[in-house]
Amino acid sequence: MDIKIINAHVVTATDEFKGEIGIQKGKITEIGRKVLGKAGTVIDAKGKYVFPGAIDIHTHLDMPFMGETSSDDFETGTIAAAYGGTTAIVDFAIQAKGQRLRDAFETWMNKAKDKAVIDYGFHVAICDLNEDVLAEIPEMVKEGVMSFKCFLAYKGALMIDDGALFRILQKAHASGALVMIHAENGDIIDILVSDMIKNGKTEPKYHALSRPPEAEGEATGRGIAVAQMAGAPIYIVHLTCREALEKVKASRDAGFPTYAETCPQYLLLSYKNYEEPDFNGAKYVMSPPLRSKEDQAALWKALQMGDLQVVSTDHCPFNFKGQKELGRDDFSKIPNGAPGIENRVSLIFSEGVLKKRITLHRFVDIVSTTPAKLFGMFPEKGTVAVGSDADLVIFDPRKPFTISVKSNHQNVDYTPYEGMQGKGVVETVISGGRVIIDHGKLLAKPGTGRYIRRKPFKGSYL
Ligand code: URP
Ligand code: ZN
Ligand code: ZN
Repeated sequence: MDIKIINAHVVTATDEFKGEIGIQKGKITEIGRKVLGKAGTVIDAKGKYVFPGAIDIHTHLDMPFMGETSSDDFETGTIAAAYGGTTAIVDFAIQAKGQRLRDAFETWMNKAKDKAVIDYGFHVAICDLNEDVLAEIPEMVKEGVMSFKCFLAYKGALMIDDGALFRILQKAHASGALVMIHAENGDIIDILVSDMIKNGKTEPKYHALSRPPEAEGEATGRGIAVAQMAGAPIYIVHLTCREALEKVKASRDAGFPTYAETCPQYLLLSYKNYEEPDFNGAKYVMSPPLRSKEDQAALWKALQMGDLQVVSTDHCPFNFKGQKELGRDDFSKIPNGAPGIENRVSLIFSEGVLKKRITLHRFVDIVSTTPAKLFGMFPEKGTVAVGSDADLVIFDPRKPFTISVKSNHQNVDYTPYEGMQGKGVVETVISGGRVIIDHGKLLAKPGTGRYIRRKPFKGSYL
């Protein structure tokens, strides 16, 4: 065999055992108390956890947005992801106005092809619907695109109306794909933003004040209602507040297949960050915005109880210098988005498991297993089983960390988590049977990540 991991304390979403793992030709071929036979490489995981590689289903690498391009491309972004224990991402191919979905998909495939060091898939964001575009949905599904994103915000740019959302939900569901929504009321926000700017309210905190939680709650409820009318499941991205959570819970309680994610920034940062001096608040300008401490507590509770199913990052980095700064005199010109691809696993382990907000198994579930199940990658990914891809993380649960832009590998000049401390550090990362991170050393080669041809949605049991 190629690799044998000995003294492994394996943790999955459901199981926990000590033993050995054998890896051959990129797959897990054996698991047992002892795995017989010689291996090219033997890794001793004594005292460490072995998890399935984490999966981040919400990233924006090399994405043109608000006149800028997100600062991580598929090389720097996937290297940073690997350092943080993520072995697969699903990024967004964004349809430009008048563009065919296939062209958007191919554009993003070309961005990733020679650069990615971990496996990657794509959702396609449909921003300009017509009959031809609708007919392309099953064509995209044949390419392994099993999810489509619709924006109910960013009026005049990415936003679509309810009729278009309804048609996309119907067609995507009939084709075996899941629809995801960015749920904020773009019409109302558009008015609030221009009123604020007119009244001289230009600092970063007005970004948050022009995007109230009610605008998110309304759009979440509306998106869910449209999905119910279309007879389709729905997935809410980057959910931030109690107003939206109530809508998700009510829909799930009524038996509708409704799913939602949140992100570390909404669990750990708050509105207060926008009030940091010297335009520092711009670092946290993202949509939806950061909320209150009470919202953070509600999100943790929802992860614990199963009302939220996934934690992804919405990694969308823009440099403070030269990019965020463009909005010094007008918050609506600050490119929306923040980095986080590298820090999700350690942060959620430390703040979630060690602070007893979620169990160890729930942690694996929300960062790896459920994302794999909902987005057509299970059981090849998201678990540790014979036949699964050899995407594994060897994790030291006792090692302390301090997050800093100086030690991070993301191609961006700040981190919103600067100075944050905790315990739980990624030691070794195996992706497709290749050791790509070894005690902080990068061994991966650009272009070795593979495109993930995902399978049809069948998540209604989650
Ligand atoms: O502010 C954000 N979230 N930027 C990325 C685009 C999106 O809405 O997901
Ligand atoms: Zn969004
Ligand atoms: Zn996003």
